[in-house]
Amino acid sequence: MPDFEPVLLANVNKPDSHTLSVYEAGGGYSALRKVLKGMSPTEVIDQVKAAGLRGRGGAGFPTGVKWGFLPPNHPGPIYMCINADESEPATFNNRILMEQDPHQVLEGTMIACYATKATTAYIYVRYEYPTAYKRLQMAIDECYAKNMLGNKILGSDFNLNIYLHRGAAAYICGEETGLIESLEGKRAWPRIKPPFPAVEGAFRKPTVVNNPETVANVPHIINRGVDWYKSIGVPSTGPRDPGSYGPKLYCVSGHVNKPGCYEAPMGITCRELIENQGGGVWKGRKVKMAVPGGISMGLLTEKELDIKLDFAGPGTVGCLGLGTAAVTVMDETVSIVDYLHNCCRFFAHESCGQCTPCREGTSWSERIMHRIKAGKGRFKDLDILLNISESIGIMPGTTICGLADGAAWPMKNAVKKFRGEFEDYIRRTNPAGFMEEHAVEALELVGIAGH
Ligand SMILES: Cc1cc2nc3c(=O)[nH]c(=O)nc-3n(C[C@H](O)[C@H](O)[C@H](O)COP(=O)(O)O)c2cc1C
Ligand code: SF4
Repeated sequence: MPDFEPVLLANVNKPDSHTLSVYEAGGGYSALRKVLKGMSPTEVIDQVKAAGLRGRGGAGFPTGVKWGFLPPNHPGPIYMCINADESEPATFNNRILMEQDPHQVLEGTMIACYATKATTAYIYVRYEYPTAYKRLQMAIDECYAKNMLGNKILGSDFNLNIYLHRGAAAYICGEETGLIESLEGKRAWPRIKPPFPAVEGAFRKPTVVNNPETVANVPHIINRGVDWYKSIGVPSTGPRDPGSYGPKLYCVSGHVNKPGCYEAPMGITCRELIENQGGGVWKGRKVKMAVPGGISMGLLTEKELDIKLDFAGPGTVGCLGLGTAAVTVMDETVSIVDYLHNCCRFFAHESCGQCTPCREGTSWSERIMHRIKAGKGRFKDLDILLNISESIGIMPGTTICGLADGAAWPMKNAVKKFRGEFEDYIRRTNPAGFMEEHAVEALELVGIAGH
């Protein structure tokens, strides 16, 4: 792999990295100036499209293509929502960007707004991120003071206001239409699509929703060009894969010696990330399994750690995708039962409850996992979990949003990849009943009625 020069985290360890003067001293806002001086919005969109930038928020949708979905010649207003809700477990790359280098996020937001003709941007910041909120507001204030926000920015015809919106502290607020509902002051219930936000989003106007890391890539694409961007990462592997280009922020957490947020070329393998950036598994132990990109993406076994962490890699071993590229490492002492129990608890708690398959499926699986953990499991519970995981989500077409798909993948992967360990646990903890054929009263058995 050629030498890799980090750009997204280039400022991060400098003293006062969050200030305008430090950002500008490192070349910050030169992309904005370049765009305002000599590029049309269409040229910016074309450059982002040609670079192959794909969204970093989880779904990997091509960013330039998304911007191109806005209705042409719309009288406005057009809104930009920056999705900094960042609630996927173990994901903190956007927190690092917003706390340590908020101007990079702002410059990306400004160029994204210029390209899409948005005149108002909202940055929806996770409720639990007070420092990010404070630093972003300081950065926004600095920009207004220097005519880098407001009317006729830097003497051009570009007008833009950026507002922060504090999140409502729920995972579902990160789903783009849930975010829009929350921004409008309502509970964050995702909307049925279509219409997609590009046509009818915030306040029923055309809206783009992008992740902070996604827009943070844009100034670098403008400054360094398409060839540079495409020299990093993994080219397309087939007609259904547009490729995975550019630098990526990977979060590494769990049982490693050096947990943290690391920038690497898209496509680093999970094993490289754990061994090199993460400093290896702690206490001299071995990896048992790892989450590839937030728990909603599923689970990798030790043997699967050589897959590339790009948009296509995790799918080759039965995971949902790259997700947020947040890798959680679990050593050999972790029980698969505990892992899945915690995943199921999370999704049951966070389901917004609008769709029956998600509401019932997540709470049913949570109760089954409670029962297994409490020593009342049956082999057939594993098939029920698989059955639930095949029946909920956008993919089987039963729910409004992707939370249910996210709930399904840990179940699918854990039960399929670690079935033997589940069966051992059930046999050991419930020797009398593990083969039981008839339904048992789950709630009564473990005394959690009313849970
Ligand atoms: C339940 C759920 C939670 C999500 N949470 C986030 C989040 O915290 N941040 C984020 O950027 N995207 C999140 N997404 C994805 C967004 O819906 C959307 O695809 C993304 O913000 C688009 O930005 P991008 O194209 O720049 O990736 C979530 C999706 C789902 C289904
Ligand atoms: S899939 Fe789940 S979280 Fe998403 S809208 Fe339906 S009930 Fe709510």
